[in-house]
Amino acid sequence: MHEMKRTAGISGDSERRERSTMEGASLVRHMKRKRILKWTARALLFALILAFLIGFIAYWRSTNECDRNAGAPANPMKAILHCEYGGPEVLKLEDVEKPTPTDNQILVRVRAASVNPLDLTIRGPWPLRPIFGMRKPKDTRLGVDYAGTVEAVGKNVTQFKPGEEVFGGKDGALADYVCALADRSVVLKPANMTFEQAAAVPVAAITALQGLRDKGKIQAGQKVLVNGASGGVGTFAVQIAKSFGTEVTGVCSTRNVDLVRSIGADHVIDYTKEDFTKTDQRYDLIFDLVGNHSFSERRRVLNPNGICVMAGVGGAGWHDGMGMRLAGELNSLAWSRFTSQKFVAYIAAFNKTDMTILADLMQSGKITPVIDRTYKLSELPAALAYLEQGHARGKVVITVE
Ligand SMILES: NC(=O)c1ccc[n+]([C@@H]2O[C@H](COP(=O)([O-])OP(=O)(O)OC[C@H]3O[C@@H](n4cnc5c(N)ncnc54)[C@H](OP(=O)(O)O)[C@@H]3O)[C@@H](O)[C@H]2O)c1
Repeated sequence: MHEMKRTAGISGDSERRERSTMEGASLVRHMKRKRILKWTARALLFALILAFLIGFIAYWRSTNECDRNAGAPANPMKAILHCEYGGPEVLKLEDVEKPTPTDNQILVRVRAASVNPLDLTIRGPWPLRPIFGMRKPKDTRLGVDYAGTVEAVGKNVTQFKPGEEVFGGKDGALADYVCALADRSVVLKPANMTFEQAAAVPVAAITALQGLRDKGKIQAGQKVLVNGASGGVGTFAVQIAKSFGTEVTGVCSTRNVDLVRSIGADHVIDYTKEDFTKTDQRYDLIFDLVGNHSFSERRRVLNPNGICVMAGVGGAGWHDGMGMRLAGELNSLAWSRFTSQKFVAYIAAFNKTDMTILADLMQSGKITPVIDRTYKLSELPAALAYLEQGHARGKVVITVE
C-alpha cells in the first residue's frame, strides 16, 4: 500500500515536473516569439524611417539643368523644356545649346514631331518619380517622335548623307535639332509621306506593330478586335492588322465610326451604343487600348486559344476609374496563367528593323497616318492639353519651323 502510494507519488511528481518543464518550454517559446516580433517591428520601423529619410534627401537634392544653366548658349536652338513637374503650362520654348553629333550619330534638323501619352509624364506621377526625378524632372527635354532632314553625320556613319529625309524616335525630339545614333531607331522617310505624316508614326505605330505581331501572334484569316480604334495607336493598329490579312473590328465612339471604317475596319462597334463583350462574335485576338472590361467579359468573346493584348488603359491623361482599370489588367494577367486564353501586357521598344517595316508599310500605302490636329512648336502646351483630354482622333502633330 505504502509502496503503491510512493509509486503514485513518484509518478505524480514526474507528471508535475513534466508539466512544469513543458510550461517552461512554452514560456521560453512565447518569449522568443515576442522578442522576434519586437525586433521585426523595430527593424520595420527603422527601415521605414530610413526610407523616409532617403526619400526626403533625394527629394530635396533632386535638381536639373535648369538650376545649373547660367549663361546663354554659345550655339543656340529652340527646344521645349519643363524645369518643374506640372501640367502643360509648365512647358517653355527656350534657347538651349545645339547638339553636336558624335562619330556614330547624325544631326537631324527636325521638321515635324508628334506627341504621345508618355509625354504627359511632365505631371510627375509619384510612382514614377524615383526614375524621373523626385522633386524635379531629371530630364527637362520632351518628345520622342520626329521627322526631318539630316544636316551632318559623324565620321563613322555610312548609312546616311546630309540632305536625306529621315524619321525616328529620340528623347528630346521637341526641338529644332536632335542627334540620333545612326544604327538605332532612325530610317529614311518614304518619299510619299510628308514630314508631318512620318512624325506621327514612331511610338504609336511601333506599339501597334509589336503588340499585334509579337504579343498577339497575329495571323492571316484571324478575327481581330481593336478596342480604342480611333486614337493614335488604334488608327495604326487597325491598318497594321488589315495588312496581315485579318478581319478587323474597331471599337470607337459615334463621331469616329466613319473614320475607323475609312482606315479599313471591316466592322465598327460604337461603344456608346453597344458593348463588344455582349455580342455573339468571337475573336482570335483582342488588341485592347482601353482596358475597360473585366477578365471574364473579355474571355467570353475570345476563342478558346485567343489572346488579349493589353496595350493601354484609355486615351492620354488621367481619367476616372483608371486606377481600377490598371488593377483589372494586373488581375487579368495573373488569372490568365490558368486559362487557355492568354492575356499579355508589354512596353513597346524601338529597333531599326521594325522602323524599316513601318517605312515599307507606308511606302506601299498599307498604312497612312491619321492626323487629328497640327500645332506649332510654340503652341505645344495647347497640343498637350488637347491630347490630355483623351479623345484624339489619330495623332496630334507638331510642326517645327
Ligand atoms: N504598351 C505600350 O508600350 C504603349 C505605348 C503607347 C501608348 N500606350 C497606351 O495606349 C493607350 C492609347 O494610346 P494612344 O496614343 O492611342 O492614346 P490617344 O491618342 O489619346 O487615344 C485616345 C483614344 O481612345 C479612345 N477611347 C477612349 N475611351 C474609349 C472607350 N471606352 N472605348 C473605345 N475607345 C475609347 C478615344 O476615342 P473616343 O474619343 O471615341 O472616346 C480616343 O480616340 C494609352 O493608354 C497609352 O498609354 C501604350
